[in-house]
Amino acid sequence: MEASSAVGRRKFLPSRNKGAMHLLLSLGVFWLLPLALALEEDSPLGCVPRKTVPHHKVNARVFHEKGVFNYSTMLLREDLALLMLGAREAVYALDLNDISKKLASVKWGVTQQQKAECENKGKDPERECKNYIRTLHKMEDNRMYVCGTNAFDPECDYMSYADGKLTLENKGEDGKGKCPFDPFQRYASIMVDNDLYSATSINFLGSEPILTRSSPVSIRTEFKTSWLNEPSFVSMAQMPESEENEEGDDDKVYLFFSERAVESDCLNKLVVSRVARVCKGDLGGQRTLQKKWTSFLKARIDCPVLESQLPYVIQDTYLWCDPQRPWKNCLFYAIFTPQSHTSDLSAVCAYRVSDISREFAEGKYKTPVTVETSFVKWVMYSGDVPSPRPGACINNEARKAGITQTLDLPDQTLQFIKDRPLMDQAIQPIGEKPVLVRRGATFTRIVVNQMQAADGEKYHVMFIGTEEGTMLKAANYDGEMFIIEETQLFQTPEPIKILKFSNVTGQLYAGSHHGAAQIPLANCERSSSCMDCVLTRDPYCGWDRAVGKCVALSNSQRELIQSVKEGDASLCPDADPVKPMNRSIWPGGNQKLSCSSPSNLAKTLWERDHHPLTPSAHFQILQDGLLILNASDSDGGRYRCLSVERSKTEDYTTTVAEYQLTVGPAGSGKGGHTLFPQAQTDGPSVAGLQAVVGLLVVSLLVLLAWNFYKGHLPLPCKCGKKSSKQAQEAHEDGVVNSTVQHQEAQRPAVAEEKPLVLGIDNGSSHNNHTRGEAVCGAVGEGSDAPSVNLPTLQYIDDESEI
Ligand SMILES: *[C@@H]1O[C@H](CO)[C@@H](O)[C@H](O)[C@H]1NC(C)=O
Ligand SMILES: *[C@@H]1O[C@H](CO)[C@@H](O)[C@H](O)[C@H]1NC(C)=O
Ligand SMILES: *[C@@H]1O[C@H](CO)[C@@H](O)[C@H](O)[C@H]1NC(C)=O
Ligand SMILES: *[C@@H]1O[C@H](CO)[C@@H](O)[C@H](O)[C@H]1NC(C)=O
Repeated sequence: MEASSAVGRRKFLPSRNKGAMHLLLSLGVFWLLPLALALEEDSPLGCVPRKTVPHHKVNARVFHEKGVFNYSTMLLREDLALLMLGAREAVYALDLNDISKKLASVKWGVTQQQKAECENKGKDPERECKNYIRTLHKMEDNRMYVCGTNAFDPECDYMSYADGKLTLENKGEDGKGKCPFDPFQRYASIMVDNDLYSATSINFLGSEPILTRSSPVSIRTEFKTSWLNEPSFVSMAQMPESEENEEGDDDKVYLFFSERAVESDCLNKLVVSRVARVCKGDLGGQRTLQKKWTSFLKARIDCPVLESQLPYVIQDTYLWCDPQRPWKNCLFYAIFTPQSHTSDLSAVCAYRVSDISREFAEGKYKTPVTVETSFVKWVMYSGDVPSPRPGACINNEARKAGITQTLDLPDQTLQFIKDRPLMDQAIQPIGEKPVLVRRGATFTRIVVNQMQAADGEKYHVMFIGTEEGTMLKAANYDGEMFIIEETQLFQTPEPIKILKFSNVTGQLYAGSHHGAAQIPLANCERSSSCMDCVLTRDPYCGWDRAVGKCVALSNSQRELIQSVKEGDASLCPDADPVKPMNRSIWPGGNQKLSCSSPSNLAKTLWERDHHPLTPSAHFQILQDGLLILNASDSDGGRYRCLSVERSKTEDYTTTVAEYQLTVGPAGSGKGGHTLFPQAQTDGPSVAGLQAVVGLLVVSLLVLLAWNFYKGHLPLPCKCGKKSSKQAQEAHEDGVVNSTVQHQEAQRPAVAEEKPLVLGIDNGSSHNNHTRGEAVCGAVGEGSDAPSVNLPTLQYIDDESEI
């Protein structure tokens, strides 16, 4: 019990406290821990990964070249079985199946003159005046389009791969508007039908942001703060919305970014997340909006995280589509992080493309209204909307009215959209709450993959890169957030800058400052027992009784034991008995017996001669073993370390290690780790120990107080409020969900929706949980989560209210 709470508890403390905690544990201040446990059970935000995989156990294939940094641009060329990797001043063609194999490379540096000019403009020659490869796209003729920052003078070129060689054509095309000047500035781009859509700054200072399409007729955004206001661009995606579209609608290009909210009243410029979109067929207006988008519409996008006052800021998105179903079923998964540095939470929210599309097609607009002579307020526009609808693509209705291209659009429509590109309503995530929230390393990138598990259901598994070079693998099982594992992908804690998935190789590719890594979606062999394999709740893995191994579902024809929703390991055959190891110890000596559970969610228990061992100053239960201090003759015997893990169905106990301990003269104990031999003569006195324990109790109390103060642990007074609200909220959840289901009724209700439906009974089922460690799913519940509280974003709902 205590050991597990210790594991859980450590995750809530900032790292600098970990050492102190460890010390506390080693000294066995166990009577205080139940208190700590009781507190943290109410904080589901800790979401502990079940497994922590250190770098040396990851088995990643890696690529890096000496002296080359910033491997942050990738293009999957599945047609050529290549991974194109853009770094600083170099592009590599790597074997897609094994990226440690370099097939070709090409250098693209800057000239001395370019470097000198860059330096003269006040930029750092070593950091900024280099050519950072930023854009890599496939062209229709199989060549690639590549752009680099080129010492603050962006340039683009064509590149081809043939006969094992990468060649740049040295076309030297102007890269302004296609690629940022500043290598530290965020940008986004996508190639659609040989036209490059890019979102970046068009000037040296980085102060003129645009979304542009570089085509024979180039189209861009207006330079107006109502269009783009100090944006940070995140990602782009295309959507084939013309497919089987009854309204004759056009394909769209979506852009995700964050920016200063023009609609916010607060003077300190609140940052909000946005989704914008343009129509592929947009040619700009005739007089108004000449060579500018006539279809640029944007909306706020929310990810309501419990305990947050300020809106969270979008950092990355992943478009997930079922190839068998129409575009309306596609989902955007997005990562959010706090805008103030007061919190270390990150979140993932999922959005239906159909919800976003509907908002742009049918939603109300916001309009600026001048109040008190100079102050501008953005409110819902409630007047007449011109026809064709401002911002809409050319559709059948427009064509009927004789408008076949955006050049034919009336000035009224164009002037309207020029002044009002912002939609009134914010886009809400599915279930109106995040699918994952975690405290700890900041999320940077996300990929989502769907897996049909042994139970026949399809689950969405999230792969999330962090600032610290780790990758989380997580799922949401009917509203329950579960982190399967956290993998230390890169040896040094450096941010994951790019993450890609190839559905051809089934591999993930990640890039960081110092290199690139490739890993499979699952590494089932890491589980050596059936219990561990099943309790991992990884939809990719199952236990094969015939061979006695944890194997990948995709590689097996046999029926495997798996239980992702419940973690039910009752079908597991009995594990092979553990071989006892011999240890010996001197009377008065100290000895550590190691025992590490494969799971962070398990608690370890010790038995001696089949009787439970109670921790004391004499027997100290550590996270990774048992410490016996000042051994006496009576300490000999059979010691067994048990790992107890609770799943939804029951507690599972496995023997992790067993020791035969003999107390006697040295010599018989080969391999025994006898510690502190000096303790035989002058070990710590009981009085001394008591003094130390007393001191540490005081420091623990100080720590707890500090945690309350910093908000790392919820105050107990919140709990009462929470439970009184539960019944009502479970009910409200039900209502929300049933209306969602109703709206979606025309769609077949299939299994893959399930992971995202954040269960009706979610609230009640989680309230029954008494174990904080396995449940990260209760986020949002018990709070006012669905209605985001934005005290600083005060909207007046209607113009008439002014
Ligand atoms: C991979 O995904 C693409 C779309 O991104 C799809 O067209 C293709 O069929 C998929 N291939 C496999 C093997 O699933
Ligand atoms: C490039 O990599 C170095 C680490 O070697 C890092 O310090 C720097 O910030 C990176 N530059 C960019 C633009 O990401
Ligand atoms: C432990 O010692 C016993 C005898 O005391 C011996 O039979 C056994 O083989 C030893 N086990 C190991 C693993 O050395
Ligand atoms: C070690 O244990 C013995 C009795 O087993 C006791 O007399 C002695 O005081 C203990 N030493 C320390 C330092 O606790």
